[in-house]
Amino acid sequence: MILIPDGPAGGATADPMVAHPYRVYRVHKETLDTFTLELAPVEPPAPFPFQPGQFNMLYLFGVGEVPISISGNPLEPRNLTHTTRLVGTVTRAMSGLRRDDLLGVRGPFGTGWPLAEATGRDVVLVAGGIGLAPLRPALYHLLSERQNYGKCVLLYGVRTPEDLLYRRELEKWRSSLDMDIYVTVDRSTGAWRGNVGVVTTLIPRAPFDPLNTIAFICGPEVMMRYTVLELFKRGVAESSMYVSLERNMKCATGFCGHCQFGPFFMCKDGPVFRYDRVKDWMSIREL
Ligand SMILES: Cc1cc2nc3c(=O)[nH]c(=O)nc-3n(C[C@H](O)[C@H](O)[C@H](O)COP(=O)(O)OP(=O)(O)OC[C@H]3O[C@@H](n4cnc5c(N)ncnc54)[C@H](O)[C@@H]3O)c2cc1C
Ligand code: FES
Repeated sequence: MILIPDGPAGGATADPMVAHPYRVYRVHKETLDTFTLELAPVEPPAPFPFQPGQFNMLYLFGVGEVPISISGNPLEPRNLTHTTRLVGTVTRAMSGLRRDDLLGVRGPFGTGWPLAEATGRDVVLVAGGIGLAPLRPALYHLLSERQNYGKCVLLYGVRTPEDLLYRRELEKWRSSLDMDIYVTVDRSTGAWRGNVGVVTTLIPRAPFDPLNTIAFICGPEVMMRYTVLELFKRGVAESSMYVSLERNMKCATGFCGHCQFGPFFMCKDGPVFRYDRVKDWMSIREL
């Protein structure tokens, strides 16, 4: 059962099963089927610290609860940002939310991208489709502490140009010259003059030193499997690759077992895993 307390909003709840009320502050339609919600805590406000890569459980009253990664800036933890693709019952209801509507938030949960371990190294982020959302907080962090990292490279693949997320930000980051950004589409439409092909085709010519690189990968599981193979061909060690995995969740606190993945519970041991620790389990398709 999900409880909505009277106490202060925020992430540092004593009881992780307690959802806090948040109000929709801004809705931004990213693509035909994807939207970003900015949420502000209902009184009294409190910061919501999180690590890039972590997720929240978002509760739509009378509909259900779903895990959604935090896609906002970790340096601005007052408002919570989530980017969601409409796939079924709860995400459809979420897509109908408007400014001032309420929803419940539990979290943050799970592991984050290993940014401390990335210090001093080239950082390659490989995103497929909605997989850019869980990586965006890591991008904000890298840009805010740019001097602590080597090359920062984003390789981003989507089905068509219309599926691109965060267009304006990508342009801004690209022109800042602090980050190498390469975008590709599976299928070109309209006035697209950029790369065409799956995201792995960008890996052979991307500018990074494989021997001093850490890679963060997020997207459909098949895309992550091929990305790992291509990075490995370039010379990146499997122990330097991290993947973010998704499974059905209920409690998000390691109790119910819904998210079990081999010996792991996705909600507390993941969603971000070092690839070599999960590769045997990822190779079992039905798991
Ligand atoms: C840790 C974690 C982080 C996540 N972060 C995000 C995020 O940032 N943004 C986001 O949009 N989604 C994210 N997801 C996926 C999101 O939780 C699901 O899309 C959501 O639970 C679907 O709920 P629903 O009620 O709308 O669909 P349901 O009614 O449960 O499912 C409807 C249909 O969609 C299929 N489906 C369910 N989940 C997915 C999926 N992930 N991909 C494709 N098809 C699916 C089902 O098999 C079913 O056929 C995350 C999942 C996890 C575990
Ligand atoms: S969702 Fe309950 S154990 Fe992970």
